[in-house]
Amino acid sequence: MAKTVIDLSYIYKPHPRQVLFHQSPCKGRLFGGAIRGGKTKALVAEGIELSLDYPGNVGLMARQNLPAFKRTVMVELERYFDAGIWVDRGNGKEFVKMITQHHSTDHFIDFWNGSRIWYTGLGDDTRGLASQLGITLGWFAFDQVEECSEMHFNNMLGRLYLPLKDIKFKYILSANPMPGWVKQRFIESKPDDFVYIPSLPKDNPYLPENYEEELRAQYPRELAEAWLEGNWDVMESGNFLFSWNEITRASDKEVVQEGELEMGVDLAWSGGDENVAIIRQGNKMLSFDRWIFKMEDSLKSVDRVIELIERFQIPHKNVKVDAVSGGSPIYSGIVAKGYNVTPIIAGAKADDEEHYVNTRAEMFYQLQSRFRKDEISIIDDRDLKAQLSIIKYMPAQEKRLQLISKETMRKHGDHSPDRADALALAFYEPRQFSPSIRWL
Ligand SMILES: Nc1ncnc2c1ncn2[C@@H]1O[C@H](COP(=O)(O)OP(=O)(O)OP(=O)(O)O)[C@@H](O)[C@H]1O
Ligand SMILES: [Mg+2]
Repeated sequence: MAKTVIDLSYIYKPHPRQVLFHQSPCKGRLFGGAIRGGKTKALVAEGIELSLDYPGNVGLMARQNLPAFKRTVMVELERYFDAGIWVDRGNGKEFVKMITQHHSTDHFIDFWNGSRIWYTGLGDDTRGLASQLGITLGWFAFDQVEECSEMHFNNMLGRLYLPLKDIKFKYILSANPMPGWVKQRFIESKPDDFVYIPSLPKDNPYLPENYEEELRAQYPRELAEAWLEGNWDVMESGNFLFSWNEITRASDKEVVQEGELEMGVDLAWSGGDENVAIIRQGNKMLSFDRWIFKMEDSLKSVDRVIELIERFQIPHKNVKVDAVSGGSPIYSGIVAKGYNVTPIIAGAKADDEEHYVNTRAEMFYQLQSRFRKDEISIIDDRDLKAQLSIIKYMPAQEKRLQLISKETMRKHGDHSPDRADALALAFYEPRQFSPSIRWL
């Protein structure tokens, strides 16, 4: 084989935990266990290394869905696209490009030495996945494997039989090991020839100094604990309406987009809260807008909502505006301008009074059911996800369901879940009023 000199340290210098990960000789490796520990960067670097170590190697890199893959793993991969290599083929050194092509429709990149990396979104990228159906692999890497199904993992494991001399088959994973199959299979019962190397934000010297502090100040205690320390058990202790697993599965999920547009508008009732407007079509959250105006500026908020209605041509009745029972200047302002939007009073009686204490509970349970059934797709916004993750419920009298109110959440030092509320409003389907006619 040609003699090569490869120095990629200008692209990536692993921190000590990442070094441990790269040096492990195990067939299976799980890296991470919290956020921002340097998982994605390490996974990509390892993929590059496997491609260089075994010329002709074939690997597959994946996340649960393709948009998320492109936003994270692809960005790291792209850092290597311009790298060059000095090759000595016996008649002097020659400079070649390390990655010779990126085929963005068929989803692969090729290396100068004959190695290839396929990439895909496992859950939704049917085309990408189909084109890779028959391939045999030398290695594969799943970023955030807890979002992926065990079936996909098993499937890939069964394809590790690339006939290459002296090859050692590898699978490399990164995860936030929240309760689920990943935790059971890889952490609670350690498989053979496998290692779990935790890496927390505090192990990553490349993060800003006050990263942890700021995160703790911004996010609910339970979530900060899970993210920073990898302590996911805390998320299991309360009565959370949405599991973190459901939330991450819904992030950037690809779903069909059909039907009329709908919008939910959550208004700020106290200083510092956000006004949030979320637009959806069918099960897909399309956009979200937020603005901070004080109550004195309610006219500006009225204009803002109307502008959105006009820009996206949303049927007026599909616009659900947070209103309070005493009347809301913003809601009345919108109606006064001729827009017959639907007022939603969170504290009012639910349509289904038998099961829900009020409309807010009903809205959130409708939303929960979309998450449970794995139907909904939300924009991957960290604050939105954090807010959803701390919505708690409690049983009320007569087996009805109730949510912990925004006021109580604020009192406990949690932020007001304005984005989550706007999402619930956008997806809420109030029962259509259909009078039943009796002739006798
Ligand atoms: N070896 C490194 N050299 C330089 N920067 C690094 C290194 N490792 C990680 N970082 C930086 O630290 C941050 C987190 O890294 P990365 O995105 O790989 O972590 P992660 O665990 O995948 O995070 P997330 O939980 O958000 O997916 C990024 O800004 C990344 O550029
Ligand atoms: Mg990452």
